[in-house]
Amino acid sequence: MRHYLYLIISLFLLFIACNKDRPIELAPIPTLPETPTIDTIPPTGTSRVPPTAQRMGYKDKGWEYLVTGDYVNSGPPLALFNTFFGPAENLLERTGENAQLPYEFNAVAAFNGIKVAAPNCLTCHAERLNGELIIGLGNNSRDYTQNRAGTNTLVSNAIQSFYGATSPEAAAYEPFKRATAVISDQTILSTIGVNPAGKLAVVLDAHRNPSDLTWLTEPRYAIPQAVIPSDVPAWWLTKKKNALYYAGIGRGDHARTIMAASILTLQDSEQAAEIDTHFPDVLAFLKSLDPPKYPLVTVEQEVTKGKDIFNIHCAKCHGTYGDTDTYPNLLVDLATIQTDPLLATSNFSLSPFIDSYNSSWFGQGENAAELVATNGYVAPPLDGVWATAPYLHNGAVPTLEDLLNSEQRPTYWQRTFDSNDFDYEKIGWHYEVKNAGGDANIYDTTLPGYGNSGHFYGDKLSLEDRADLIEYLKTL
Ligand code: HEC
Ligand code: HEC
Repeated sequence: MRHYLYLIISLFLLFIACNKDRPIELAPIPTLPETPTIDTIPPTGTSRVPPTAQRMGYKDKGWEYLVTGDYVNSGPPLALFNTFFGPAENLLERTGENAQLPYEFNAVAAFNGIKVAAPNCLTCHAERLNGELIIGLGNNSRDYTQNRAGTNTLVSNAIQSFYGATSPEAAAYEPFKRATAVISDQTILSTIGVNPAGKLAVVLDAHRNPSDLTWLTEPRYAIPQAVIPSDVPAWWLTKKKNALYYAGIGRGDHARTIMAASILTLQDSEQAAEIDTHFPDVLAFLKSLDPPKYPLVTVEQEVTKGKDIFNIHCAKCHGTYGDTDTYPNLLVDLATIQTDPLLATSNFSLSPFIDSYNSSWFGQGENAAELVATNGYVAPPLDGVWATAPYLHNGAVPTLEDLLNSEQRPTYWQRTFDSNDFDYEKIGWHYEVKNAGGDANIYDTTLPGYGNSGHFYGDKLSLEDRADLIEYLKTL
């Protein structure tokens, strides 16, 4: 009897312990087991990305910091922002000054104490799907096809006329203003929905002193012209990945790597070091996220057949899903995958950016981040893949059905931007095929960096097998 009592008490204590916000360091995801029904042999033209030790953090503190923290700490004065844009729907259920702000802004104190509205990570890492805002779903609808320099000047003029050119409010806006001024004409893309974050990183790195991270008016090296589009990856995939970013270039300390957005408005490396102490928590939060569940019913018989097809044709690169997931962390050479090579080979994967970043504050000392140039793309985990259309690293393919049948992929296409207009047949966004590009609403896959070729692994399947496979993919 006493033993039972002890057992119950210890289970109770364990229950309490488990319910606290505990530091997250996930056990390494096992690599593929050898079983006859699963093809586990890494194909030629691939290599494994090794794991590296990561700092531990607290997910609840990470969420709090993400949506209230001052990792970006410059922007328009909060009062002015609220006058023009407020109050917004409180989608994140935040309290205090944040309660009025749109979800992609935090109310923070600038370096001189002035309260400002500063953009947060959810600008790019949250998106609506079926009308609901999904935290961690990559934004796929923002418009980076316009030069925003005019908006910057407008805000700047408004601040000057409301507060004065030499006011503390104007000073609090200055770091945001100078960064936006150099970014504006260097990050313009051809299609609405794709993201220029990689180029942003290069431009901002070039304008920083590498050792103390202070701002430099002139760039330290020639910034390449090209702006290569990417589709923003889902945050819930980070828990399985040994290397961050599509090309697997993000090695070393991941918490250090993902604080990069703060480079927009940083004062110096002293502030960077303070921000850095919060990012193990942010990483723990990202690793705690799960994908949204497919909202409709799936046909069990087809799912079972689709799983077998997946395990034979796809698992060797993408891993297995079920009770215990496995994930091989494979980097697939460009020559093998044959998708658009430019993101992997362009400016932000090559020196001088890579060398500059690695020798800067970010890449030095304890918990250093490291960027490693690669010549391929990582086969991503496919958890929640039904929700992450459009597909491939550049979002060049609108639906899963098109991805698995390369002949069906449209060369020019215009998608819906109504988050309720989801295509549950093909899995992705409803779209119209067009005859030509030249319009920001049309995805033109003939442009450099926007190609939709490669990843031909679904082509050899029969129509029925492909349908079963898609039924299975809905359940991941
Ligand atoms: C301007 C848009 C933008 C902002 C702001 C932004 N990101 Fe990203 N993020 C991206 C894009 C685009 C990628 C993919 C780049 C690539 O892989 O080449 C990415 C990649 C990542 C990844 C890697 C995911 C993976 O699967 O490899 C993580 C983690 C991440 N971002 C975290 C953050 C955090 C944390 C912040 C805020 C401090 C942030 N990002 C701010 C656009 C953005
Ligand atoms: C040789 C390795 C390999 C095989 C085999 C493979 N894939 Fe992939 N897959 C990749 C790589 C690498 C990417 C990323 C390519 C890119 O973004 O340019 C990818 C991307 C994808 C994506 C897009 C994910 C996204 O969110 O954009 C899906 C979906 C996918 N694969 C499904 C499959 C299915 C289903 C099969 C089996 C029929 C399969 N893959 C077979 C390597 C592979």
